[in-house]
Amino acid sequence: MFFALSWLIPIFQLKSSLPAHPRKSSSSVIMASVSEVPQTVEWQGKQVPVWSMRTIDYGLVLSQDPDEVEKVTKACLEDGYFQLDLNGIDGRGMLEDRQEVLKLMHRFFEAPLEAKNEYGLIDSHLGYEPVGNRTGAFGAGTKDGYEMLKVSRDEIQQGSPRVPSPIKNSGDLHILERAIGSCNTVTKVILSALSTGMGLAGAERFEKSHRNDRPSTTTLSMMHYLPAEVTGQSKIGHQKHTDISSLTLLFSDQWGLQIRPPGECGAREMGFVEPKPGCAFVHVGDSLRFASGMKFQSCIHRVVPFDPAEHRYSIAYFLRAEDDTMFMDSEGRYVTAKEWHDQKFKAFTDPPVWQAMAPKSMILGGMKEDGADDREPVAPFVPEVSKETAVQA
Ligand SMILES: [Fe+2]
Repeated sequence: MFFALSWLIPIFQLKSSLPAHPRKSSSSVIMASVSEVPQTVEWQGKQVPVWSMRTIDYGLVLSQDPDEVEKVTKACLEDGYFQLDLNGIDGRGMLEDRQEVLKLMHRFFEAPLEAKNEYGLIDSHLGYEPVGNRTGAFGAGTKDGYEMLKVSRDEIQQGSPRVPSPIKNSGDLHILERAIGSCNTVTKVILSALSTGMGLAGAERFEKSHRNDRPSTTTLSMMHYLPAEVTGQSKIGHQKHTDISSLTLLFSDQWGLQIRPPGECGAREMGFVEPKPGCAFVHVGDSLRFASGMKFQSCIHRVVPFDPAEHRYSIAYFLRAEDDTMFMDSEGRYVTAKEWHDQKFKAFTDPPVWQAMAPKSMILGGMKEDGADDREPVAPFVPEVSKETAVQA
């Protein structure tokens, strides 16, 4: 039986007004090697790492350049993430589509709640989610600080998307169709390169379980993080997790995304991803890790308020495997891509008590985070964040 990958979490992160770049430590050191000694940035009164990472040239991957194929494969094997440079002629269309989606997001999220919530959350990969539907960045007792609209790739392809009325005009639907098409192409190109890099052939190739004409929960997710000054201390960011998906394509012009790189004894400390102009942050999700026989790393990440006063916009394309794709998870269970999606989505939205009872392999996809280089427990952040973001809701 073929073990498939199922999902990725692509995210395009955009912003309405560029935030001031954080201050980097004067003692920061940029290392030539990947993920060795990071730069640091001041956040919450501490110096926090800004993790270095490989940069992959999209044009070279599109050409199946052998060196670039090896490089992107190594990035997924060793890190679980990389920056994808889209500045060349082959990627600029994607960047332009992203900008149009950002404008659309502003139009949508500024609409009244009743209009945005016209259909509610139709399915876990489709519809509108208001602020506070999931667990927040700082653990049990906190809720997320973002609202989100998810548009199904399947529905766009079928020409009958259930999209709320504020962006249901033909112009907006065209923007969504273009963006989803671009995202799909980019992620499929990466997937194909990874199949080649892993020496897979025929039905074993990853893209064979991501066919366009087969049902999947692949979705374009548009997220608006409200200022912590507005949501209050109990609704902040997005909890630490790995993505359900196979690959996540994320555009981020604003600070706030943090990752824990894999380490020799467990995950390394939480640090920021620096937004790079013209680049997308791409990371491996649980399903591709499972499909690779646990060889690929799934990226542990969360979203925190870097600037509690700013609105933060992000776009993620989650490339997911066909619903009936079968794979073995980190617990040794055989599950389909759809089952893994539904189970993990439930865990994301469960109350803290239930979530605490779930195996750690559900939220973190079986990735280990304890170890000798685990120098930064999350708990001490809570009182500091609470203090710095406490405002009237
Ligand atoms: Fe995520």
